[in-house]
Amino acid sequence: MKIAVIGTGYVGLVTAVGLAELGQNVIGTDKITEKIDKISSGDVPIYEPGLEELLKANLKKDNLSFSADLNKTIQSSDVIFVCVGTPQRGDGSADMSQMEEVSRMIAENLNSYKLVVEKSTVPVMTSMWIKRTISLYKKNEMAFDVASNPEFLREGSAVSDFLNPDRIIVGIETDKARDIMVEIYKKFKDRIIVTNIDTAELIKHASNSFLALKISYINLISELCDRTNADVEKVAKGMGLDPRIGELFLKAGLGYGGSCFPKDIRALTKIGEDLGVNVNLLKEADKINIDRIKIFVEKIKKALWILKDKKFAILGLSFKPETDDIREAPSIKVIRELLDEGALLRLYDPEAMDNMKEIFPEESPQITYAQSLYEAAEGANALLIVTEWDEFKEMDLQRVKKAMANPIIIDGRNVFELSKIRELGIEY
Ligand code: UDX
Repeated sequence: MKIAVIGTGYVGLVTAVGLAELGQNVIGTDKITEKIDKISSGDVPIYEPGLEELLKANLKKDNLSFSADLNKTIQSSDVIFVCVGTPQRGDGSADMSQMEEVSRMIAENLNSYKLVVEKSTVPVMTSMWIKRTISLYKKNEMAFDVASNPEFLREGSAVSDFLNPDRIIVGIETDKARDIMVEIYKKFKDRIIVTNIDTAELIKHASNSFLALKISYINLISELCDRTNADVEKVAKGMGLDPRIGELFLKAGLGYGGSCFPKDIRALTKIGEDLGVNVNLLKEADKINIDRIKIFVEKIKKALWILKDKKFAILGLSFKPETDDIREAPSIKVIRELLDEGALLRLYDPEAMDNMKEIFPEESPQITYAQSLYEAAEGANALLIVTEWDEFKEMDLQRVKKAMANPIIIDGRNVFELSKIRELGIEY
């Protein structure tokens, strides 16, 4: 069985390498040829722990290759994993144009039975559109099926998430499609859930939106803690010991970013509205998350009164630790607010500075990039923690305090113990 993976972004590249690691015959393809050249020589265009080693190991075997020829790749495959982008549009809906384009290309290259597998996060009912598009554009009576196989990869742990999945969700309409998917994932047969396609598509949006909701919930609770003597970290601990709640995703702070949660909760909101469902719960979760930036800037103003010409060390640019991804990162919104106030910023992140320079170039008069967190702290009026990288948790606070103009740390991720840091005479 030959598997094509279309799209070599965070999801596609991990899926191609992961399926090869499972022993499948995989060809990855992408319309950006320089990406294909890079990956074919073993270079990974994203920072994802463990991915480069796994890519190199599988390229050495003869069951993984990459090609820029989409037509040939489709023609020589039995199963096609579609991992193209479904970015968010202004009205919150997902932009499905890449998915539609690939569906047409598959129709034009339907030289044998093919199983088309939606891997990208898609709005429920997308499979019906893919089926309709392929039926509309195909030039012969060749049979095909569509399946939904949503991914649950977290950036920074995508490889381990692929190789140790909590569950494999397979949405199918025919026994043939089911048998193919079960064969592909036979190594995980103990945790394959087979459903119809709508169910599989909705599990993905429902899961991500729930996780986003859980984060907004603890951020709402943190507002109550800020106005009482309650400590939100301890509230979260007390809640999380109930197995029905669980300790994960109860970290209050600047809220969620990334290419999934903000997009997925808005996509589900839009789907709900289009179907006439009251989705205010989801809208409120999104609103709480948007407000986190304002609340954080308010704390900065409370500490420094006037922000104009003040120097800030901003630690953490990626939307979360262990990734170089800055899509929908809280850091971008915080930086914009501070620039508008005329502040002077020194940015540092272990991995994401090159990506951030695309948005805020080094030449910007109010911005410089530091080579270490200590350089960023030099002469700073306040130090802002925006992403909780381990190296920030381990920083030498005495050294930082000495370097700063004022010993003020405003921590968007609750990295330090309140008591510990106050002992050091740092305003936190
Ligand atoms: C998420 C889902 O976890 C994953 O299953 C899905 O496939 C893709 O989207 P990802 O966006 O990579 O993965 O990161 P995740 O670790 O889920 O964190 C998402 C955001 O929530 C980050 O911005 C993170 O900082 C924030 N977060 C997470 C919190 O603010 N508090 C928490 O307790 C946990």
